[in-house]
Amino acid sequence: MACRVLALNGSPRGGSGATAQLLSPLLEGMRDAGAETELIPVRTLKLQACTGCYSCWVTTPGRCVHRDGMDRALEAWSRADLVVFGTPVYHGSMTGLMKTFLDRLLPRYDPWLVPSPSAERVTTHPSRTPEPCRMVLVSVCGFPGFHNFDAIVHTFRHIARMHEMDVSGVVLRPFAEPLRLPALRPLFEGYFGTVRDAGRELIESGAISDATRSNLSRDIIPGNLMDKREMANAHWQRPPRSRPRAAAAASGHSPSLSCP
Ligand SMILES: Cc1cc2nc3c(=O)[nH]c(=O)nc-3n(C[C@H](O)[C@H](O)[C@H](O)COP(=O)(O)O)c2cc1C
Repeated sequence: MACRVLALNGSPRGGSGATAQLLSPLLEGMRDAGAETELIPVRTLKLQACTGCYSCWVTTPGRCVHRDGMDRALEAWSRADLVVFGTPVYHGSMTGLMKTFLDRLLPRYDPWLVPSPSAERVTTHPSRTPEPCRMVLVSVCGFPGFHNFDAIVHTFRHIARMHEMDVSGVVLRPFAEPLRLPALRPLFEGYFGTVRDAGRELIESGAISDATRSNLSRDIIPGNLMDKREMANAHWQRPPRSRPRAAAAASGHSPSLSCP
């Protein structure tokens, strides 16, 4: 039977973001290898935050108090063999959207604290129904350097352990904002091809090969660290916008300074 892949894009930018630029070739490679893929941009689910009421454990076991896109997402989660978590780095970790998604998985588990069957001294909650058994992390960030992913990789490895999932691979791209620019796309075609290879290998052999991993970690934007900082700063160096307060000050009125 074909491997069923559920991909989640936790970027608030959805399809126009850098995370989407990586998810697209990765899923293409997975489909080339025979997988069935489903992509959910988490922002479309319009998720309400977990309130920590534990109704899903006590009052209505398995059912959250909120009725929103999570109902649909949980059905997709139940069908998946492999989950791809796509998220940009926000403050060293995942976006609020992705975190809300993970929090809202709570109805899937029983409240009991039990020993993990696979990791010594680890405590976990038993799942009510079978879980996807593999995960892949896809992440992008704005700063140059792979060290910017240290915390998020650690976090997702911890989450994988809690959910009894194997981390089959990670696809990370620092200094990723240029990936969104259509004019620069030809520069990245080789890299997107490598991401496609990674997707294919994840389905065919269950892991990303050493050769592909080494290609994924290559620098794809010319220049050293200083050049990259200057490149990003040049992007932000825009003419100042006309702000209401500045405009008011210039016209002799400064409403915010005079309280009624
Ligand atoms: C609120 C916020 C926090 C961010 N925090 C970080 C950070 O800690 N480290 C970093 O390298 N980039 C950070 N970024 C930059 C994003 O990771 C970067 O813009 C990324 O390319 C966005 O991906 P997307 O287009 O898929 O949304 C942050 C961006 C925002 C909006």
